[in-house]
Amino acid sequence: MVLNTCEINNNQLLINKYQTIAMKDNVIHKVMLTVNHKDYTLQILPWVSLLDALRDRLNLTGTKKGCDHGQCGACTVLCDGKRILSCLTLAVMKNGSQITTIEGVAGPLELHPLQKAFIDHDAFQCGYCTPGQICSAIGMLQENKAATREEVQELMSGNLCRCGANSGIIDAIMEVKEQQS
Ligand code: FES
Ligand code: FES
Repeated sequence: MVLNTCEINNNQLLINKYQTIAMKDNVIHKVMLTVNHKDYTLQILPWVSLLDALRDRLNLTGTKKGCDHGQCGACTVLCDGKRILSCLTLAVMKNGSQITTIEGVAGPLELHPLQKAFIDHDAFQCGYCTPGQICSAIGMLQENKAATREEVQELMSGNLCRCGANSGIIDAIMEVKEQQS
């Protein structure tokens, strides 16, 4: 999910363009989403971001709004198994998609291995970035592109931690990566 500055700017331009078109349109759209294995039908204005739909309409406030501009990764969720920035995604663009937020990653009786590893490695302080870090790490491990710690760091560099818990975050991810290999 690492986005370079050019890609972020392109995404922002795209969302601005859609929002401008949509605001002229000013029509409420029906959007069907499956979030954490539960089906929802929303009547939603076309310029509402997926992040705002999750937090304000579905009360799934685990996904955090940091910058709202694609810069921090706090809003990362999984869409059809791939990590995306929900602040740069219009909800209408994801009609019919399967979304997983931090509220949906644990099993019925136990935490997701990454949640457990984050606790074991003291990989958070304030916890604001943590839901995005964990969703991003799940997506990154599924991508299976990182072989080394340095590559994991690079592929997680779109998720910022202002508390400086980065070392513990990478330790936790590496532990789960090694368990999976
Ligand atoms: S809130 Fe989406 S990247 Fe910062
Ligand atoms: S734990 Fe505070 S921003 Fe990461």
